[in-house]
Amino acid sequence: MKVLIVGGGGREHAIAVKCSESKLVDKLYAAPGNAGIAKLAECVDISVMDADKLVAFAKEKDIDLTIIGPDDPLVAGVADAFTAAGLRVFGPAKNAAIIEGSKAFSKDLMKKYNIPSAAYEVFDNADDALSYLETAKMPIVLKADGLALGKGVLICNNLEEAKAGVKTLMLDKQFGAAGDKIVIEEFMTGREVSVLCFCDGTHIKPMTSAQDHKRAKDGDKGLNTGGMGTFSPSPFYTEDIDKFCKEKIYQPTMDAMKAEGRDFTGILFCGLMLTEDGPKVLEYNARFGDPEAQVVLPRMKNDIIEVMEACIDGKLDEIDLQFEDNAAVCVILASDGYPEHYDKGFVISGLDTFDDKDGYYVFHAGTKLTDKGIVTNGGRVLGVTAKGEDLFKARANAYEATKWIDFENKYMRNDIGKAIDEQ
Ligand code: AMP
Ligand code: GLY
Repeated sequence: MKVLIVGGGGREHAIAVKCSESKLVDKLYAAPGNAGIAKLAECVDISVMDADKLVAFAKEKDIDLTIIGPDDPLVAGVADAFTAAGLRVFGPAKNAAIIEGSKAFSKDLMKKYNIPSAAYEVFDNADDALSYLETAKMPIVLKADGLALGKGVLICNNLEEAKAGVKTLMLDKQFGAAGDKIVIEEFMTGREVSVLCFCDGTHIKPMTSAQDHKRAKDGDKGLNTGGMGTFSPSPFYTEDIDKFCKEKIYQPTMDAMKAEGRDFTGILFCGLMLTEDGPKVLEYNARFGDPEAQVVLPRMKNDIIEVMEACIDGKLDEIDLQFEDNAAVCVILASDGYPEHYDKGFVISGLDTFDDKDGYYVFHAGTKLTDKGIVTNGGRVLGVTAKGEDLFKARANAYEATKWIDFENKYMRNDIGKAIDEQ
């Protein structure tokens, strides 16, 4: 088979590694890919948002399956363009990707179908939002309705902060049209877990659990980022919790989308908060998490193409999804200053050290191949993942492997997976 991966981050590199291990794949392409993916796939310089060019390329190369990695093209309907052209594509259609594209949609869906989540109200004008806040309980959470690079969520400790938040989102439009509408949500406390699920429109199969670290600095301080590291599995996601989520969250979400005429095929990412009152949905995403994919996929035993094909064909029930009985930890190596200002273009050394090391991976996120070699080209530069027989070993291995890599403004969190000390 010829397979095209759309995207060029660490998540797509993790998908590319799994595809390269598939016995079904003869040739791998990526658009636009990155310097790491280029070792496994032929990269072509087409934007993830350029549906026409992507479809034309897939036709020209006789691509058998296209996998769409990021949220933006899914929410914009790039999968629909492939389907309309008679091409096979893994990723939800636009009318289903709205589960990530609109927080108001997902909150209304959960309310209508009794899926556990925080209480909320939706506002499309700032005056109403501000007067609602006057009597609301603090802390409170404000969310831009649309996509905002994972940064459109504001946790506000008091009325003053909440009012400033409404201004940021709805009046100053810091996230553009994503803030035309906002969700104001009850603040919940508990441990967070990410569960990524394969879906075929009818059936849903959760993968092993993971936990992300969204803040830039140790101790969960600093600004929100795209994710500074992950571990898998989460020791807090017990069998009982899994059973509850399958019965009350995963399958009901699948059924709800079907009932709405929005059959969901692809990856449904359930961001959960394990509260005192049980697990509740924090958010849905319509794709693999990044960097969750970098710890979950290396532990998956199945041939990823077989599973994806089963999703497209509505036969996911025939797949026995299996994960290794071990653990993985991913530490993101970032450019110092991320997620604000940072310099790039620094030569990266040590990448080859990973070539002959089983159970160790270096996933490229913001890198570029130049005549000086591979250089840094983004805020999140690399994801260093290591497996181990348990979370403690995996964490030690991952931090050891971060030492193999060097570049001038290398920055990482030193407490990825610290939560496992408290289990
Ligand atoms: P989201 O993009 O919706 O996952 O939100 C980003 C982060 O904000 C989550 O990972 C949580 O840490 C936090 N968050 C979102 N919603 C809530 C909530 N209702 N209560 C507490 N924290 C929240
Ligand atoms: N790691 C969180 C996300 O992919 O949205």
